[in-house]
Amino acid sequence: MVNFGLDGRTVLVTGGASGIGRATVRLAAAGGACVAVLDADADAVARTIDELQAGGAIAAGYPVDVCEEKEIVAVVARVEEELGPIHGVVAAAGISRPKRAVSMTSREFADVIDVNLVGMFTTAAATGAVMLERGRGSFVAIGSTDSLGGHVDRTHYVASKHGVVGLVKSLALEWGPGGVRANVVAPGVVDTALLRTIHDDDSIARNFLGKIPMPRLATPEDQASAVLFLLSDAASYISGAVLPVDGGLTAGYFNTFTVS
Ligand SMILES: NC(=O)c1ccc[n+]([C@@H]2O[C@H](COP(=O)([O-])OP(=O)(O)OC[C@H]3O[C@@H](n4cnc5c(N)ncnc54)[C@H](O)[C@@H]3O)[C@@H](O)[C@H]2O)c1
Repeated sequence: MVNFGLDGRTVLVTGGASGIGRATVRLAAAGGACVAVLDADADAVARTIDELQAGGAIAAGYPVDVCEEKEIVAVVARVEEELGPIHGVVAAAGISRPKRAVSMTSREFADVIDVNLVGMFTTAAATGAVMLERGRGSFVAIGSTDSLGGHVDRTHYVASKHGVVGLVKSLALEWGPGGVRANVVAPGVVDTALLRTIHDDDSIARNFLGKIPMPRLATPEDQASAVLFLLSDAASYISGAVLPVDGGLTAGYFNTFTVS
């Protein structure tokens, strides 16, 4: 296993009870980090913490909705009390609710923006404040290849994920002088619950597999190792970057490729 040098450091992960967030929590804990798992799904938080503690990890769970600003601020203070000063933050909480723009209400549009972008801002503001006090830290936002281009049935999701890039680039400017870095990991198509609630095997084969130069779905672990790199001191001069972890999906002008 790659050593990301996070031993004894506290890492806070929103959306940490499933998919990319959970894989990140597991990998950080396996490297000796103290992990704080924040997620709206209380049962999944309990299951994740049980599994981590059974493996000997120092881990604490916080069932919380990233849209609840006061609760997020309170949880950040509790994490610092219970696990120690926060070194790294991963904002992975997110939702996707595919729908055509012309059938969508503004409330449905705003609901996705609220979780994916406003919730990300709330997480960043609350954790950035404490990391800046110490002049050290790293924030990693989970964007998407939908941070880089459009997607049918995803106007709200794409708008939120483009917003994540603007948010993080601006944080990199604000926080750089204070010693805190901010970056985006932009996953391609990752095999998680979020994907499986939208696509079955046939739909995955039809929509994605022939379009990804590395012809497989990403695993949550593919994303977690990129996230941990950006949290680590190996990335100490990287800030404001957007790192696609997409098997080459966004490398070309066309989203399809041919094999001669
Ligand atoms: N799966 C993919 O193909 C893919 C691709 C690109 C980007 N992403 C992004 O990766 C991130 C993680 O997605 P995933 O695929 O692991 O999905 P997932 O559904 O497995 O995990 C998302 C987690 O976020 C939590 N969550 C949702 N709303 C929340 C809220 N308001 N407050 C707190 N927690 C909340 C859920 O309970 C869940 O545990 C998301 O931001 C998603 O947009 C996923």
